[in-house]
Amino acid sequence: MKFTIRPALKSDEPLLWRMLYFAAHMDEEGSAPESAKTNPDLAPYVEKWTERAGDLGFIAVGEDGTPAGAAWIRVMPAESPLYRWVAPQTPELAIAVAPEFVGQGVGTELMRHLPPAARAIYPAIALSVRANNPAKRLYERFGFATVARITNRVGTQSFVMLLQLRQRADAE
Ligand SMILES: CC(C)(COP(=O)(O)OP(=O)(O)OC[C@H]1O[C@@H](n2cnc3c(N)ncnc32)[C@H](O)[C@@H]1OP(=O)(O)O)[C@@H](O)C(=O)NCCC(=O)NCCS
Repeated sequence: MKFTIRPALKSDEPLLWRMLYFAAHMDEEGSAPESAKTNPDLAPYVEKWTERAGDLGFIAVGEDGTPAGAAWIRVMPAESPLYRWVAPQTPELAIAVAPEFVGQGVGTELMRHLPPAARAIYPAIALSVRANNPAKRLYERFGFATVARITNRVGTQSFVMLLQLRQRADAE
């Protein structure tokens, strides 16, 4: 199937909740689809989407209008574990593709759109990815570098990765 990419709007919040569920691997935990909403570590990725300055995301939509995936960035609360490793106020990337569309290039297409659009707003983007997730290769292809290895919310290992969008001098 062909996919088109469009900006993530306020009305996409329910879709972002669903995608957060997959991005955080809650499906693998057998959690209910709504559980990301009540998880204090995860809810800040989506709640009140578009109401914070700098909220930026893209949605992949199939030819028949079915949403296939989303990638978005948001500045997380100051207590985010990533801020021990990257500058505070660095937005965090979340990305997921619905299970039935995984492995068809949707994630790659979303990543082609997000960092170039983010560059106008932010000097860098951070993310965390589980150590056993092949998605790390996707991020590396788009220029993310590993800056730390951490214990994640379920007690396994994750990498903190950072994509520098502008040179330090540009950002000042
Ligand atoms: C990671 C993800 C967004 C990539 O989107 P995608 O459309 O499947 O990816 P593409 O088809 O564009 O392939 C690009 C890369 O995605 C990764 N990928 C592909 N299938 C994957 C899968 N089943 N699980 C995780 N990553 C996968 C690989 O790194 C792949 O590159 P490679 O073939 O060189 O290894 C998507 O697979 C997904 O939502 N996975 C489950 C949730 C998740 O892991 N989110 C990221 C959390 S940090």
